[in-house]
Amino acid sequence: MNTQGHQKTWQDLIALADLETGDATPVTLGRRDLAVFDTVDGIFVSLARCTHGAANLCDGYFDGKYIECPLHQGLFDARTGQPRAAPARIPLRMIKARVVDSRVQVFL
Ligand code: FES
Repeated sequence: MNTQGHQKTWQDLIALADLETGDATPVTLGRRDLAVFDTVDGIFVSLARCTHGAANLCDGYFDGKYIECPLHQGLFDARTGQPRAAPARIPLRMIKARVVDSRVQVFL
């Protein structure tokens, strides 16, 4: 449900060339802080805030598959959002993403 009556659409986010290669790039879209992951399986996007606490996951260590939270070292799979190590227990909120003309778009 959306209280603002906003219809979701594909929105331009960032050029592939502006991403940190093989890493997590923080991008703000409106009031949302997003994390763009350049994974071994392609581009994935989630909300940037850790589901365990007030940390931006883009500040953590990323190995191409798993993002380690900088605050308590919780671990998430950046491709699915699933938690992989404590204290992370709640999945990341993943944002539908695609690449068009070498730019990342998100469905929001
Ligand atoms: S804030 Fe991320 S694991 Fe605690």
